[in-house]
Amino acid sequence: MHHLLLLFLFLFHLATPSSAAIDTFIFGGCSQPKYTPGSPYETTVNSLLTSLINSAAFANYNNFTLPVATYDTVYGLFQCRGDLSNDQCSRCVARAVTQLGTLCYASCGGALQLDGCFVKYDNATFVGVEDKTVVTKKCGPSVGLTSDALTRRDAVLAYLQTSDGTYKTFRTSAYGDFQGVAQCTGDLSPTECQDCLSGAIQRLKTDCGPSPWAEMYLAKCYASYSQSGSHSRPNNNGNKVSFVWFVGIIFVS
Ligand SMILES: *[C@@H]1O[C@H](CO)[C@@H](O)[C@H](O)[C@H]1NC(C)=O
Ligand SMILES: *[C@@H]1O[C@H](CO)[C@@H](O)[C@H](O)[C@H]1NC(C)=O
Repeated sequence: MHHLLLLFLFLFHLATPSSAAIDTFIFGGCSQPKYTPGSPYETTVNSLLTSLINSAAFANYNNFTLPVATYDTVYGLFQCRGDLSNDQCSRCVARAVTQLGTLCYASCGGALQLDGCFVKYDNATFVGVEDKTVVTKKCGPSVGLTSDALTRRDAVLAYLQTSDGTYKTFRTSAYGDFQGVAQCTGDLSPTECQDCLSGAIQRLKTDCGPSPWAEMYLAKCYASYSQSGSHSRPNNNGNKVSFVWFVGIIFVS
């Protein structure tokens, strides 16, 4: 019986980093100006988004600049979470582009973040520009953490913020029962990435307080942490996870 329980706990763990988690919608936003459907602008945006999807099969980050006839320019970039395979990255970017097409129909610019990837396009220059605007944040319950737990949380965040001299846009850390993840878009310089992450991590502490989990998304970077078992954001994985638990409980009892 105990073996069955362990088997189901193992399945539970397999279920969490699935493609459903990668595809979890985090935020999306569109620029006010609209283009005329059927115009050269639309053709250019479509080429740009296609280039992003194709490029995501080979790299975790890339940017493109395409001219719209002679009168305008469209810029775009994608950034996949650093631990995704090329296959996962291209599927994530394709999905984000599809959602962007619906959400930002005929918008001159748009941005969309799924759990596994970020896609943005616009006719205003934004590639290579640091931007620490808070786009969205999700704070866990302010149940308070014991001072020991708070120490472990702060250790995880301190490690995420530590630059060991090598430029990494993707960082993970773990201490005791806490895990942390941080990611910059690849267009930032090492200094800008460091500054962006410091800003996100500072805000995780000040805006969310002593919470068992929190996520802070700035325009060009994000940082998040969670305590094991604190059940982070409700995502579209929820049904599968409770199904596994349900089956596990039946077999054990
Ligand atoms: C972007 O396009 C909109 C609509 O065509 C236009 O109003 C705006 O000036 C353009 N911005 C830039 C930076 O070209
Ligand atoms: C954008 O892409 C070009 C061509 O791949 C590359 O040379 C450039 O460094 C990139 N710029 C940024 C800011 O990432």
